[in-house]
Amino acid sequence: MNKITEIFENNKKWAKRVHDADPQFFYKLSQLQKPEILWIGCADSRVPANQIIDLPPGDVFVHRNIANVIVHTDLNALSVIQYAVDVLEVKHIIVCGHYGCGGVKASMSETPHGLIDNWLRHLKDVARFHEDELQSIADEEARFARLCELNVQEQVQNVLNTTVVRAAYDRDADLQVHAWIYDLKDGLIRDLNDLPE
Ligand code: CO
Repeated sequence: MNKITEIFENNKKWAKRVHDADPQFFYKLSQLQKPEILWIGCADSRVPANQIIDLPPGDVFVHRNIANVIVHTDLNALSVIQYAVDVLEVKHIIVCGHYGCGGVKASMSETPHGLIDNWLRHLKDVARFHEDELQSIADEEARFARLCELNVQEQVQNVLNTTVVRAAYDRDADLQVHAWIYDLKDGLIRDLNDLPE
């Protein structure tokens, strides 16, 4: 069986399993989308949003791109945030980066990677904002891990600075923005606000 045939087979089995557990599941979801979470994460295949937080379809509105970057002029990301905040009225925006992020790693080298280097400039900006701290870390792996963390924190600032989130806070909306990081090595998520500085 080739990979694509296998995917259709898997899908049928999954839909049956879900239906057997709750015959109303798909009907209910088809009538309404009311997630409380907007997940902004990396496109990396090892960081699938719903799976790593173990939530079913319907619970998470998702935006993923390379290295979970929120660019002030990215109409795609801004539209996702606006729809999530203004229409779905999510209560949490989670920016979740991950250690071992290939995009972050690539931004640390001068090797050309083609078109993507334009995107990676945003990560080089993050590194530049935190140049002193990063240069003080001698170990390259530790510096890489720290840049993954700093990137999440910078992207949270970018989320907070969108007109959409600013307006939401101006009207006292029930909205929290979180800075999280996922570890590929143990499958665990850490809240960056809980990590020692
Ligand atoms: Co990544």
